Amino acid sequence: MIHKTLNDREPVPNLTDYATMQASFSWDAARAECAGLSDGGLNIAFEAVDRWVAAGRGEAIALRWLGKNGERRDFSYAELARLSDRFANGLQRLGINPGDRVCILAGRIPELYITALGTLKAGAVFCPLFSAFGPEPVRVRLVKSRARVLVTTTLLYRRKVREQRSDLPHLEQVLLTDSDSDEPGIRSFHTLLEAETDHRPPPRTQPEDWALLHFTSGTTGTPKGAIHVHQAVIAHRLTGCWVLDLRPGDIYWCTADPGWVTGVSYGIIAPLANGATLVVDEAEFDARRWYAILDRERVNVWYTAPTAIRMLMKVGAEALHGHDLGALRFMASVGEPLNPEAVTWGLATLGRPFHDTWWQTETGAIMIANYRAVDIWPGSMGQPLPGIEAAIVQRRSGGVDRLPPGEEGELALRMGWPSMFRGYLEDEERYRQCFAGGWYLSGDLATCDANGYFWFVGRNDDVIKTSGHLIGPFEVENVLMEHPAVAEAGMIGKPDEFAGEIVKAFVALKTGYEPGDALRKELLGFARTRLGPAVAPRELEFVADLPKTRSGKIMRRLLRARELGLPLGDVSTLEGEHLKDSDA
Ligand code: WT7
Repeated sequence: MIHKTLNDREPVPNLTDYATMQASFSWDAARAECAGLSDGGLNIAFEAVDRWVAAGRGEAIALRWLGKNGERRDFSYAELARLSDRFANGLQRLGINPGDRVCILAGRIPELYITALGTLKAGAVFCPLFSAFGPEPVRVRLVKSRARVLVTTTLLYRRKVREQRSDLPHLEQVLLTDSDSDEPGIRSFHTLLEAETDHRPPPRTQPEDWALLHFTSGTTGTPKGAIHVHQAVIAHRLTGCWVLDLRPGDIYWCTADPGWVTGVSYGIIAPLANGATLVVDEAEFDARRWYAILDRERVNVWYTAPTAIRMLMKVGAEALHGHDLGALRFMASVGEPLNPEAVTWGLATLGRPFHDTWWQTETGAIMIANYRAVDIWPGSMGQPLPGIEAAIVQRRSGGVDRLPPGEEGELALRMGWPSMFRGYLEDEERYRQCFAGGWYLSGDLATCDANGYFWFVGRNDDVIKTSGHLIGPFEVENVLMEHPAVAEAGMIGKPDEFAGEIVKAFVALKTGYEPGDALRKELLGFARTRLGPAVAPRELEFVADLPKTRSGKIMRRLLRARELGLPLGDVSTLEGEHLKDSDA
């Protein structure tokens, strides 16, 4: 156990007495910490930016952007408020209505932040698409979201959207961040902004109006679009304060990409709603660059992920040499299991333990965490946020049974926190299946110990977590099936020392095709071109056929058990005898 003692050289933690706060918490009080709009409304972008301008902190730095080639640009809160007002005005001029979806496909560029905030101010719904997605995941999400506007770069547009534009009848406007010319259906983002004024009346959104759309994956079917409403900001602000220990003026760095939920909830909203300065690094992971940023920018609070921490551990302490991380007050991690060695490595090497936090796209904000003032059991995800009731349960018809401490079951949360998703877009049935007896069921297996700490065990479905990104096996299988040689394909997450898991494909070929290295390379390349490097399989193995249930579903669990040399478990639903290897 890592015992916490308060240290009088550092500011007092925002959450000092976990037990008392947990007992006395009310969401109404948390809501009262938000500024709100004059008519009882609430707006995420107003809470993130404009409230600080109104409070006289407009000149404070909201966003410090570090370009991959060494550029450095600061945006004050006032500047971000003006630019996002302009973008909201521009959307209005384009005829975008409240509730319409605005997608972005871009790396970590300043325009992304302006788009997010301006979209929210206009009452439209902001939907990020990860820039390392290939054309197919981009198309599927643009279709399903019915996006009317896409903000992107010329390169990403050409590579991933242009050829499929005719499949996207809802997509009226593409705004390019790096082009000055307007042509039909394609406009310049900056020309649009320049034509608008800084002035705009305050937003008019209500707490339950849709604000964010985040795609996530399940075992089957197309990606699910989780919908969040404006009052999610109550939870973003609160967790930024209590879990990340943010306060106005802090320098904060979240390394997650805004193409995923962490990079929006904690890479934009929560830190701004707490008056911090966001550090945004456009470049990809590089140990020396990262240590230099932590040092030079005097980062106070750092939110990162286990894959990155494991890579820093691998690079070793010499990369740290000559850097002073003395400004760091708090370090946290999310997205996949954080091994106990990573927690203690943080303490030994960087002088602080990593604090694991648990949440999901669906929960919208951190639900279980290790807090700055609370003792850590390395390997545990921590304890529920005050205001959140978490339990380990077993589903039964019509409800759930709570399980006693130490027993493994599904991690569930009592319904009704402000950042809980309000639906899966056009998927009412899948949404309903997430709830039973007043509980939200997470799909994660976990245990809770006698002290109330939660421990992650695994998933109860077949989704794959690679470098913290959730991949749906079905989306990958579908693409491989389009190749003329492929009869069947099944994906699993294969354990990997750094990425947690990698996507591994099992493929059965059609008659007339022979397994071999050339075909393996071709199939991997085919998948990579369509799906992009973030989603495509890294390994591929040929098999004679895939294990299936009698009803024809691929039993990925068996593929995985065989890969890992584990017992096969219950195979009573297995059809035929399908576990023989081919001569791959
Ligand atoms: C899944 C949710 C967390 C927001 C970004 C990812 C896994 C998340 C932890 C953790 C072990 C974790 C779970 C969860 N996960 N945090 N601290 N320890 N596993 O959101 O893409 O919706 O993924 O990530 O399996 O269900 P997401």
